[in-house]
Amino acid sequence: MTQRNIRPLRFLITAGPTREYIDSVRYLSNDSSGRMGFALAEAAARRGHRVTLVHGPVLLTPPAGVRVVPVVSAAEMLVACRANWPLQDVLIKAAAVADYSPKTPSATKRKKTRGDWRLVLRPTTDILADLSLHRRTGQVVIGFALEDQDERNNALRKLMRKRLDAIVLNRPVAIGSNRAALEVLVAGEGWQTWPAAGKTALARKLIQLAERIQSNTRYPQT
Ligand code: CTP
Repeated sequence: MTQRNIRPLRFLITAGPTREYIDSVRYLSNDSSGRMGFALAEAAARRGHRVTLVHGPVLLTPPAGVRVVPVVSAAEMLVACRANWPLQDVLIKAAAVADYSPKTPSATKRKKTRGDWRLVLRPTTDILADLSLHRRTGQVVIGFALEDQDERNNALRKLMRKRLDAIVLNRPVAIGSNRAALEVLVAGEGWQTWPAAGKTALARKLIQLAERIQSNTRYPQT
C-alpha cells in the first residue's frame, strides 16, 4: 500500500553481486543475495517513491511497481547507473560490486593445461564514487561499507573519500542473512546504532532516513 503525505522522490537502488567473467563459462563473484537492495526497493515503492532497481544476478522476484534493470558485470552496472542517475533524487548503493575484473577474458572456454593459470585483474570503476562526484544539488548519495576490521574508521574513510551523505556499516555475517544489526554514519551528525531486525524493517528505516536527508538538502545553505 502506498503511504500518503510523503513527498514522492526518485530512488536509484542497486542490489546483488556482479559477475566478472574469466572465460565463456567461469566468473568471479561474491555471496551477496541482493535481499537488502530488493527490500530497499520494495520499501521505497511502498512509501510512494519512484524506484529504479539496478541489480546483478540474483534469485529474487522484483518488487511490484519497481523499474528493474538487470545487469551482470560491474562495467554494465556502471553504464546503467550513469544513464539513470541524472533523473534521480537519491542513490542507495547496496550492491556488492566487484572491485576487480579479469583484464583479458576469453570469449571461449579456456582449456586445461598442466601449468599454473595466472589471472591478471584490473580495478573496476567505483560506481558510488563516480555518481557522487557527478551529482547536482539536492541529490543524496548513500553507500554501504562491508568491513571486518577497524569497521567504523574504515566506514568513515569511505564516507569522506566518496563524499557520501550517509554510509551503512555492514559485517560479512549479514551477507545472505535475513536479519542484521546495522550502524549508520550520517555526514555531519554521527553514528546511529540500529538493533538487529529483519531486512524489511531495516529497509523502511533507511528509506525514511534518506527522505529526511533529502529534505534537508533541497535548500542548500549559501
Ligand atoms: N562500490 C561501487 N563500485 C565499486 C565498488 C564498490 O559502487 N566498484 C560501492 C558499493 O556498492 C558500496 C560501497 O562502494 O556501496 C562500498 O563497497 P565496499 O566493498 O565496502 O568497499 P570498497 O569501496 O570496494 O573498498 P574496500 O573493498 O577496499 O573495502
